[in-house]
Amino acid sequence: MSATIKLENKHFPVLLKELVSIISPLYGGTFLDCTFGQGGYSQKILEKKNNKIIAVDRDKDVYLYAKKFEKKYNNRFHYENIKFSEINTINIKPKELKAVIFDLGYSTNQIKDLSKGLSFKSTGKLNMKMGLNEFSCHEVISNMSEINLYKIFKYYGDERYSKKIARKIARFRNKKIINTQDLTKIIDSVKRFKNSKINNSTKVFQALRIFVNKEISELINGLINAFYLIPVGGIIAVVTFHSIEDKIVKYFFKNYSEVKNSSRYVPFRENNDRCFNLKNRKPITPNAEELKLNPPSRSAKLRYAVKINNECNFDEFIKKFQNLIDIENLQFDK
Ligand SMILES: C[S@@+](CC[C@H](N)C(=O)[O-])C[C@H]1O[C@@H](n2cnc3c(N)ncnc32)[C@H](O)[C@@H]1O
Repeated sequence: MSATIKLENKHFPVLLKELVSIISPLYGGTFLDCTFGQGGYSQKILEKKNNKIIAVDRDKDVYLYAKKFEKKYNNRFHYENIKFSEINTINIKPKELKAVIFDLGYSTNQIKDLSKGLSFKSTGKLNMKMGLNEFSCHEVISNMSEINLYKIFKYYGDERYSKKIARKIARFRNKKIINTQDLTKIIDSVKRFKNSKINNSTKVFQALRIFVNKEISELINGLINAFYLIPVGGIIAVVTFHSIEDKIVKYFFKNYSEVKNSSRYVPFRENNDRCFNLKNRKPITPNAEELKLNPPSRSAKLRYAVKINNECNFDEFIKKFQNLIDIENLQFDK
């Protein structure tokens, strides 16, 4: 367990009230919390004595929090250190499952844990592993070809200077780019004359975090597995933090909810092909009070849908994001 983890780095659960108002009509059963973190969502749900939680998280340090829940809630709480793409391996009584919840992104602990090196503000080693990873950011920066680095920065970060940054990394890495600051200095040197409202390193760091943690296939497989786990009438609710995540979740819910007869160019979709009832077409976002209390919540978007059909074919969903999945499969050159 990481020595630097501090229990006092309290994480504010985002959009908690809004989430509760969506799932509370289903209270009296099991809820699957796919991103346990510090357990903010789970705790709120467990306040009602007829609820149970099955929680998962890929970060092994999260067990510090889960252990407390196991003690307090006994058989109403079960925790597994797995990735949410693997929720199909959990032993759940399907009829008891009411909702599957995802709160994507990172907890305050993870951001502040220097050994994880998730933030460009940290001074530690280039790591970025959330847990159960195959490789670290340092391995990517040291071993990926210039062209592959460019693709990662461009497609996962939408970074305008992807080419120049990739070139400079490839040129300097023999001198070893080891710490977060070694990388931010390179990015700053490429963007030294550029005026931007966001930090120079924001986009490259986002891209590298997505790549190291395989966040695209995690989300796509997590959503599909959630669909097959819950019974008809159950809810899938997802809080996203960046535009790629939100695009994937929006497509998943909207594309499989709509009866597509509005355009003559789009094939008519039969009613029995619909998988979800979409209550809100627009995402729910934090109100002014939450934004004031917790400014980082400003990027959060909550989307949810009710499952209405057991038969659903997600080939189209996977195909839609295949280009992003392919980037995840880029191999090291060295
Ligand atoms: C924003 S935090 C969740 C905070 C939580 N809702 C709370 O109130 O404390 C996100 C958590 O999801 C976990 N996580 C991210 N991606 C994951 C994945 N693919 N599988 C399992 N856990 C994941 C992270 O390790 C982190 O602990």
